[in-house]
Amino acid sequence: MRVLRTIAEVRAARAGLPGLGLVPTMGFLHAGHMSLVARARAECGASAVSIFVNPTQFAAGEDLSRYPRDMPRDLAMLDAAGVDLVFTPEPAEIYPPGHASRIEVGPVASPLEGARRPGHFAGVATVVAKLFNIVQPTRAYFGQKDAQQVAVIRRMARDLDMPLDVVVGDTVREPDGLAMSSRNVYLSPAERAAAPVLYRALDAARRSFDGGERDAETLRRAMAGTIASEPGIALDYVSVADGETLEEVGRAGPGCLLSLAARLGRTRLIDNVVLG
Ligand code: PAJ
Repeated sequence: MRVLRTIAEVRAARAGLPGLGLVPTMGFLHAGHMSLVARARAECGASAVSIFVNPTQFAAGEDLSRYPRDMPRDLAMLDAAGVDLVFTPEPAEIYPPGHASRIEVGPVASPLEGARRPGHFAGVATVVAKLFNIVQPTRAYFGQKDAQQVAVIRRMARDLDMPLDVVVGDTVREPDGLAMSSRNVYLSPAERAAAPVLYRALDAARRSFDGGERDAETLRRAMAGTIASEPGIALDYVSVADGETLEEVGRAGPGCLLSLAARLGRTRLIDNVVLG
């Protein structure tokens, strides 16, 4: 495994590789990240992982300064998984003085996370576009856990004719249903015990849909009610939206996205399921 810190090193290592799968990450790796890494390894001739805590996707007052990091552990995990290239740039390598361009993806970035985290998706789209240009993968892997991020990146890749396939991996969960997240380490034991209610709410709404419920507002109310049954959780939003445009719907149908965000103490968690 080669660990590369500069764009020039990546360009040199990239030359001569035909198929390359890229998994962009912010590090503090867990089984969700590693499931994407395993797919990239299995489906592409060579695999690359970027580890970069991207400052431009954090709004002022968010957790940039305390975002969890453990580079030695991350590198050991990636080495053991058989990854070929790891790109771990310093912020100044990605954002040298004077950098000013950014990518605005349009309406799909506006609701849900986009509404609560101003500038977040412009930061995500811009850094992902830069990583695509630097690494030039033939396939790039993203997790369904961040459903709106997937929609934003698909839209960007299509609109800007980016020459790669965007591949989406299923959300990897703890045995009790909690979606794996680097941010789960922020949770106190009591918060960690309460957190699985997020998935329970989504799963109950999905089962209600499977049982014939089509009224989106009924599904939203059911999810909010389940979350309210667990003390200490402040619901941020519940949504039943079109899976591609992310606009709220009146009637739920296959492909619709059920999503929610909630705060447990200082920690903000998101999760989602797709109606089948
Ligand atoms: P990060 O939160 O580190 O996540 C990296 C990738 O892992 C994302 O595509 C995310 O959706 C996926 N992922 C996270 N938890 C997952 C889980 N439980 N199951 C499956 N996949 C999971 O997302 C980012 O970083 C950044 O926004 C990034 C795309 C790297 C741009 O900075």
